[in-house]
Amino acid sequence: MYSKEELQSGLTTHIFGKKIFTYDSIDSTNACAKTLASTGTDEGTVVIAEYQTAGRGRLGRTWQAESGSNLLFSTIIRPTLEINKVGLLPFFAAAGVALALETMTDTRCECKWPNDVLLNGKKCCGILLESSFQQNVLDYAIVGIGVNVNQKLFGEDLKDRATSLSQEYGRVFDRRKIFQQIMKSLELLYTEVKTGKFEVTLHEWKTRTKMFGKQVTLIQAGERLYGRAMSLSADGGLVLATPDGQRVCYAGDVTFAIQS
Ligand code: BTN
Repeated sequence: MYSKEELQSGLTTHIFGKKIFTYDSIDSTNACAKTLASTGTDEGTVVIAEYQTAGRGRLGRTWQAESGSNLLFSTIIRPTLEINKVGLLPFFAAAGVALALETMTDTRCECKWPNDVLLNGKKCCGILLESSFQQNVLDYAIVGIGVNVNQKLFGEDLKDRATSLSQEYGRVFDRRKIFQQIMKSLELLYTEVKTGKFEVTLHEWKTRTKMFGKQVTLIQAGERLYGRAMSLSADGGLVLATPDGQRVCYAGDVTFAIQS
């Protein structure tokens, strides 16, 4: 594992990465960051690990990542947000990662609703945002980011949908540099997000998504919805024009699959 000093050396941010906790192995960096946040740890604090024994994914899934090859980290944020804007936070994280990976690879990334980042059509980053409220006010949110950096192989179930930077470009990437670039991009967007404004974030995210205007399938808790992806709602939902009318969806997996 990189030391905290190595990760911080040359880091120019003022919020993200000012405090870093490093682990060779941990259950989940999100779980650890949550414990830290609930005891008042500063925003921008990062928990990073080489390996997670119980990495958490969206929709109750697990996040599997080869040890020592990827970036697995979580950071704490405490923005001042109205409750109806909390659902926009994943777009901040996804746009931040996309901007950073573009700087490192010179390739345009795609942002896929709700919070995946794709390279050449395959997922290279997953984001899990977990929020905590006190009397209906956001206390903190944990932004958990898993970037497939140097992983060479993916399991049968994933290999058609997942990729890594190394798999796409045929070389090994410096994870420290990518980490620092993500810290920088997050901070760039966060100056606005911290005060509840999402104009830049949503602009960056929307210009990297391909689904608007297209016919999509959304699978959500076993329910399959077909419709045209129209826009994002003000609170981060996906607005779908379905044969039965407009629906706003807040979770699920979207594909361009055709109705059967
Ligand atoms: C997804 O399902 O796409 C989201 C995956 C998020 C994985 C990251 S890895 C670092 C952080 N810690 C976790 O337990 N999960 C997130």
